[in-house]
Amino acid sequence: MTVESPFLTLGIETSCDDTAVCVLENQRTVLAQGISSQIEEHAPFGGVVPEVASRCHQEALLPLLRRTLEKAGIHNPARQLSLIAVTAGPGLVGSLLVGVMSAKALAQAWEVSLVGVNHLEGHLFANVAVHPSLEPPFLSLIVSGGHTEIVFVRSFGEYELLGETKDDAVGEAYDKVAKLLGLGYPGGPEVDRLAREGDPDAFPLPVPLEHSDEIGFSFSGLKTAVLWVLRRLEKEGKPIPVAHVCASFQKAAVASLVGKVRLAVLRSGVRRVAVSGGVAANSALRNALSALPGVEIFLPPLSLCTDNAVMIAAAGYNIYRRGFFSDLSLSPDPSLPLSR
Ligand code: KG4
Ligand code: ZN
Repeated sequence: MTVESPFLTLGIETSCDDTAVCVLENQRTVLAQGISSQIEEHAPFGGVVPEVASRCHQEALLPLLRRTLEKAGIHNPARQLSLIAVTAGPGLVGSLLVGVMSAKALAQAWEVSLVGVNHLEGHLFANVAVHPSLEPPFLSLIVSGGHTEIVFVRSFGEYELLGETKDDAVGEAYDKVAKLLGLGYPGGPEVDRLAREGDPDAFPLPVPLEHSDEIGFSFSGLKTAVLWVLRRLEKEGKPIPVAHVCASFQKAAVASLVGKVRLAVLRSGVRRVAVSGGVAANSALRNALSALPGVEIFLPPLSLCTDNAVMIAAAGYNIYRRGFFSDLSLSPDPSLPLSR
């Protein structure tokens, strides 16, 4: 009797400021994962510095890879691994290059199949990796530092963009508001935490595109509205009630996201919504979406909301099973579209 060996995917994610590696068995079993965060390096600049990011990836990737393989019990990668899945875009080109070039070199050396993964398809698979019942069709709200969009997943690999932001991504708006308030980087978690202590009605702020019937987002006006509140308080010589400002901003941002999810559900008739990306870690957004009547909400655990390699391996495994793979001509594409 022969025992079928498990299908093991090595996932590599280096699209922005997190170096992440994992070993995934089939679609959902994580054997080991590791993340090397660059937050400390970028914090003094208040945002990601692309040149610093790619240098950090270069330093972090191989030691992280070695540790993760060891933790997963992979002593002979050429024999034990079935696939290498790597983020090919969108993202910062210098950061993507480190992951893609390393993945290609390893795939060639170990003679293992390679698949380039779209980072957004990765975020979408963060939910698939933890919810066995999540099958298409469903809607996917992707909310991160670089993206805010609602995607209709007709089937895996068949994605229709229903709406996206016209300007800033919602995570970017969180980070910019945090910067205006003198909070640390990344600002999202800190604004989220402070908002829980503040009064969301202290400063009535406009809900972006509230009265528009399009599925779309816009966050730069909301950020400017916060700036005007701060300028007014300053002019009046009043102290800045930071928690109240955070709560008021968060109320408007979350109302906009929830409103457009409701609209997308109504228009598409699809009542299952998966939420992912860094802002999916936001407590107010998680609560508000979970309270939507008649809608089934899927959320990843907090560790799979922000960038990670499990989502890339999970997407890569699925893409490979659908019959797609990459050859050694794979190169990073900073603006790779979601639909292939
Ligand atoms: O998905 P991600 O790690 O990277 C991108 O692909 O952009 O998302 C990072 C973004 C940052 O803008 C960060 O401020 C935001 O997610 N974020 C949050 C929270 N945790 C992370 N925003 C609001 N509330 C949070 N709890
Ligand atoms: Zn991301």
